[in-house]
Amino acid sequence: MLQFLKVSSYEEMSKTAAEKIAEVVKAKPESVLGLATGSSPVGTYDELVRMEAAGEISFAKARSVNLDEYLGLDGTHDQSYRYFMDTHLFKRLKTPFASTAVPCGTAADMGAECKRYDQLIADLGGTDLQLLGIGPDGHIGFNEPGDAFILETHVVDLDPSTIEANARFFASQAEVPRRAVTMGMGGILGAKKILLVASGKAKEDVLKEAVFGPVTPRLPASILQNHPDVTVVYSAT
Ligand code: F6R
Repeated sequence: MLQFLKVSSYEEMSKTAAEKIAEVVKAKPESVLGLATGSSPVGTYDELVRMEAAGEISFAKARSVNLDEYLGLDGTHDQSYRYFMDTHLFKRLKTPFASTAVPCGTAADMGAECKRYDQLIADLGGTDLQLLGIGPDGHIGFNEPGDAFILETHVVDLDPSTIEANARFFASQAEVPRRAVTMGMGGILGAKKILLVASGKAKEDVLKEAVFGPVTPRLPASILQNHPDVTVVYSAT
């Protein structure tokens, strides 16, 4: 079942998403959370940090697995997704997560790294909740439009629209890595619950097409229609 919640601001989207994550962690403190980076979840993480500081929630027993990482950036690079997670969530908590994982974008053998990551997700028993954003081309994680859905963690050539969209975080478009490693659709759809946050008018068309249009690897997020428990929280502003 897919629930589409339209809210009136980025702040409300973030609070709604944080509440849903908190519900899962309160019900099962050792939850495995699939986490995302990008602008969309920043407010959600701010709210989770606030809740943790206020003693309303604890991640001490929780584990996390992130969706993706740029190829060639190690965790000390300020545009790496490991760095993003450390600065927006992990290092801001009074009590850290029991464990956190982000795919390694600098492994000498990326094939082995992809296999290791899928094994890690399997060993954790899959995720209890997967948080997602959506790219302008309909990507989730860095599963870009293509001829087929790829189930396993894999290395991907980023779509030109993704490179353009993410250039805002780098000094210039030329500095945006051209490749990334991403959890595949198997890992994402293996989550018990999926929570997608999106804001801004620019996301509205791709989101509606993903939710109400045909299921096709040309629009990767459309695969979410096959999952039994998806909540989309969208704010036009
Ligand atoms: C990030 C990720 C991407 C983003 C998407 C939207 O870990 O998996 O799919 O969620 O590119 O990014 P923002 O939120 O910056 O618009």
